[in-house]
Amino acid sequence: MNYQWYPGHMTKAKRMMQENIKLIDLIIEVVDARIPLSSRNPDIDELGKNKARLILLNKADLADERENEKWAAYFQEKGYYTVKLNAKSGAGIKNVLPVVMEACKEKLERDRKRGIKNRPIRAMVVGIPNVGKSTFINAFAGKACTKTGNKPGVTKGKQWIRINKNVELLDTPGILWPKFEDQSVGAKLAMVGSIKDEILNLEELSLELLGCLHEFYAGILEKRYEITESEDRVSMLTQIAENRKCIQKGNELDYGKAANLFLEEFRNGKIGRITLERP
Ligand code: G4P
Repeated sequence: MNYQWYPGHMTKAKRMMQENIKLIDLIIEVVDARIPLSSRNPDIDELGKNKARLILLNKADLADERENEKWAAYFQEKGYYTVKLNAKSGAGIKNVLPVVMEACKEKLERDRKRGIKNRPIRAMVVGIPNVGKSTFINAFAGKACTKTGNKPGVTKGKQWIRINKNVELLDTPGILWPKFEDQSVGAKLAMVGSIKDEILNLEELSLELLGCLHEFYAGILEKRYEITESEDRVSMLTQIAENRKCIQKGNELDYGKAANLFLEEFRNGKIGRITLERP
């Protein structure tokens, strides 16, 4: 399958990012905990060098808790602070602020030594589309937020949300572009629903996902759909179509409907908490 992200979009996103990164101390990068690598763009490491770094493993509610732990350890090992999060329900949100302070402690110390007082930490949220950046900003800023408006030295039109007396957040997230060079990245983004279904071949995608689940979570399909699992992915989709009565005119099996149903259930967490990548 061919996934698209136009060069024009990418250049614009990159330019915005470079401009905004100059203004901040901390990059809060949101990733999808089900695909922590495929939902990142490592270019942010180059753009954000010398900045404090925090990775939010978001949608942790949909991902495998054991793997969440492993991914958190993996990123910490590489020098990132991490927080596991469900931005939608707010679970884990109270852990973010203390980690933000911790991640910026060197900067705060530097300021203190130079006699700079009351200069808040400035942070920006970044991530590829659909990882939950806006949901996080809303949850983190909460109702108590006050927009601080333009300030001297800050590019006109930028709004900062005051989280508390020590932390300010840029109100619009930085959009990173997915890295489609590797075909498997596009497929995984499609599986979790981060690429418009209209441009996808859902049957092909569901076969790939069936293969992944059988490999990583043997038995989980059998349990949910009462099918016999095997390497034969078409047979698994056929059995799902049969067991879920996906029938079209002429009493034929409706593979499209079965694929749709299966992908929806996966994306909504009905099959279980699943992580599609291993550290
Ligand atoms: P973005 O700014 O990075 O593009 O993402 P956005 O916040 O718009 O979130 C994308 C979708 O992911 C939204 O769903 C949002 O509700 C959902 N989401 C965000 N964080 C979490 C999380 O931690 N757990 C779960 N389960 N979902 C999360 P949507 O389909 O666009 O809307 P809706 O289903 O909420 O109505």
